[in-house]
Amino acid sequence: MERRRTAVLISGRGSNLQALMEACAAPDASAEIALVISNRADAAGLRHASAAGIPAETIPHGAFATQVGFENAIDRTLHEHGIALVCLAGFMRVLSPWFVERWRDRLLNIHPSLLPAFRGMDTHRRVLEAGVRFTGCTVHMVRAEVDDGPIIVQAVVPVRPDDSEESLAARVLEVEHRCYPLALELVASGRVQVVDERVAIAGALAPDVLVLNPASI
Ligand code: GAR
Repeated sequence: MERRRTAVLISGRGSNLQALMEACAAPDASAEIALVISNRADAAGLRHASAAGIPAETIPHGAFATQVGFENAIDRTLHEHGIALVCLAGFMRVLSPWFVERWRDRLLNIHPSLLPAFRGMDTHRRVLEAGVRFTGCTVHMVRAEVDDGPIIVQAVVPVRPDDSEESLAARVLEVEHRCYPLALELVASGRVQVVDERVAIAGALAPDVLVLNPASI
């Protein structure tokens, strides 16, 4: 099967981009990272792309008079590169409904919480303030609302009593790097279907685990 040409949109560090590139380097991967777009010229992720020989473009949002102009430039670039799927990976611009609709069910996002809880910014600080015992990450299809849309993959991590925002972010990031490649593979291989705004995955099994936190007292 021909690999699905995938673009990754970033704004910064690009560790999820790196995880996606590594997974797609496998000979049997269903997706190929064919383009990286950053809205910031100083995004570290651009260097990961160049190092891997992947075309990388900067499209600075500030260079456009309107949001539509910025999004049109992204859309045009995606089409020029024959892109079939788009992954948002730490892309810190909200995309307009028209763009989201144009890429409906071909546009994925990762968020560092168990959605629909803790949408938006400062996720880990709010998780700690809320005192929840578990958090995690979510890969989902993008819809017009921020951090909303049919869920493809989630992973859970415990919140520990001595966690800081940094320690929690690091624990969640580790599972992000497993979830995003898995979600992309599921979508690119054609196993994901969105039915009534829920994702159905052919042949997928839920894990047979039950985890308590605290584990013991
Ligand atoms: C990741 O933790 C990702 O989940 C988060 O930004 C970070 C990007 O890291 N995204 C959001 O908060 C989106 N709402 P990376 O640049 O190293 O992949």
